[in-house]
Amino acid sequence: MTSKQAGAQYFEERPGAAARPGTVDVLLADVHLRLATDSGVFSPGRLDPGTRVLLESVPPPPQDGDLLDLGCGYGPIALTMASRAPSATVWAVDVNRRSVELCARNAQAVGLDKVRSLHVSEVPPDVRFAAIWSNPAIRIGKPALHAMLTQWLDRLAPGGAAYLVVQKHLGADSLQRWLNDQGWPTDRVTSRTSYRVLRAAARPAAAHPAQGSPTDQAARPATDEQEH
Ligand SMILES: C[S@@+](CC[C@H](N)C(=O)[O-])C[C@H]1O[C@@H](n2cnc3c(N)ncnc32)[C@H](O)[C@@H]1O
Repeated sequence: MTSKQAGAQYFEERPGAAARPGTVDVLLADVHLRLATDSGVFSPGRLDPGTRVLLESVPPPPQDGDLLDLGCGYGPIALTMASRAPSATVWAVDVNRRSVELCARNAQAVGLDKVRSLHVSEVPPDVRFAAIWSNPAIRIGKPALHAMLTQWLDRLAPGGAAYLVVQKHLGADSLQRWLNDQGWPTDRVTSRTSYRVLRAAARPAAAHPAQGSPTDQAARPATDEQEH
């Protein structure tokens, strides 16, 4: 499994794993990228199959404005977004500093100069996103996942949408229910092998649930989240 690094987790802020540089080829019908990877980041040996399903399922991104890859890793989603929307600003954010650095280096190496790869804490608070694409970090547990999604999905611009890829056995269906309960109208747009791609539309302010709703109170680490 590529996501665990000898006792460490790929979502640590400063992975301690010794450097082990490598490359991953992102080969899609319309995008060919060779990206640098390293130990201590998510799936450093190959394009994650869930990420591939997402990138082969999403509609073309908006061509202008601000777009977000939530949890960028070494950058396969952000750099595909930027290749498909070269005039847009693509924000690539992660908690893992090694990932942020790799993504920035990869963007520079392939000449995608409108990618801004930053730690999650560094994004200006007034930026609103026309689209969010993410292979979200399910392994951080349900409360943290819900907090992360709430923070960023509420920064969708009116009319914007988030596309999220989640494995069925890691709770794709319950996540879809939760998103709908919280006021983000969410559909399943793709179901391929064990992966689901969910489309969550921006929620109107009036749709915010009262704090401490039954769904929130039930939030706890998912017992079915064994691997990602
Ligand atoms: C499943 S990996 C996907 C990585 C990359 N997008 C890909 O497809 O290969 C999820 C990423 O989310 C990051 N992450 C974990 N917690 C996060 C948080 N609270 N905010 C942003 N990113 C987070 C992890 O460090 C990891 O890089």
